[in-house]
Amino acid sequence: MPHLEHIADIRQDYILASLDEGVTGNDPLAFFGKWFGEAVSASIIEVNAMTLASVDGRGFPHARIVLLKGVEHNGFTFFTNYNSAKGEQIAANNHVSLLFFWKELERQVRIEGIARQLSATESDTYFESRPYGSKLGAWASPQSQVIADREVINENYSTYLQQFKEESIPRPPHWGGYNVRPQSIEFWQGRSSRMHDRILFTAGADGHWSKCRLAP
Ligand SMILES: Cc1cc2nc3c(=O)[nH]c(=O)nc-3n(C[C@H](O)[C@H](O)[C@H](O)COP(=O)(O)O)c2cc1C
Repeated sequence: MPHLEHIADIRQDYILASLDEGVTGNDPLAFFGKWFGEAVSASIIEVNAMTLASVDGRGFPHARIVLLKGVEHNGFTFFTNYNSAKGEQIAANNHVSLLFFWKELERQVRIEGIARQLSATESDTYFESRPYGSKLGAWASPQSQVIADREVINENYSTYLQQFKEESIPRPPHWGGYNVRPQSIEFWQGRSSRMHDRILFTAGADGHWSKCRLAP
């Protein structure tokens, strides 16, 4: 396996930018918006893809990608199946972590926070905006369950296609959004010689943010 033998030789120096306490301001959500806008302007593919980590009952963390669908309620919104593995983990322990890596900008954003389900009305509104096929998919897939083969979800899809026909497809009760209210947000800008910039915001009990610089 020639490629695996040389992993240790893969190296990238980061040279694009720097990050100074002065430019982050005092509102990390506003600064996230600025960085997100720059990532969109840089035409990054799947710019809203973020790693979501949640913890199971044995204390094991589980990470997977989900799509950021809004920054609202002073937090970060994504949608999923409430009966999925992540849904069960969050129901038992709503402490989660979110991670963005925009490698084209040599930037990482780390978020730790508390996940709460959106209201049914908010989930309905977003579900309504989804393409027809995605709506059917939400009904057809028992996300995270073991299935015998692909036919299972193909058959489910056909069944729901028949059931709803031309009707508008309602949101499945087990599908909806979460909003993650951040407790901390760290902005990381890659710098040369691994001398990166890290600015960490931490929410105080009074809701105000404090910030500090971390060693890379
Ligand atoms: C680019 C990308 C975007 C994804 N977006 C979502 C999403 O928004 N919601 C979701 O439930 N799963 C999404 N997934 C699938 C999840 O990574 C994961 O496979 C699924 O949610 C099941 O995770 P779980 O078994 O840990 O609950 C996405 C995967 C990728 C690679």
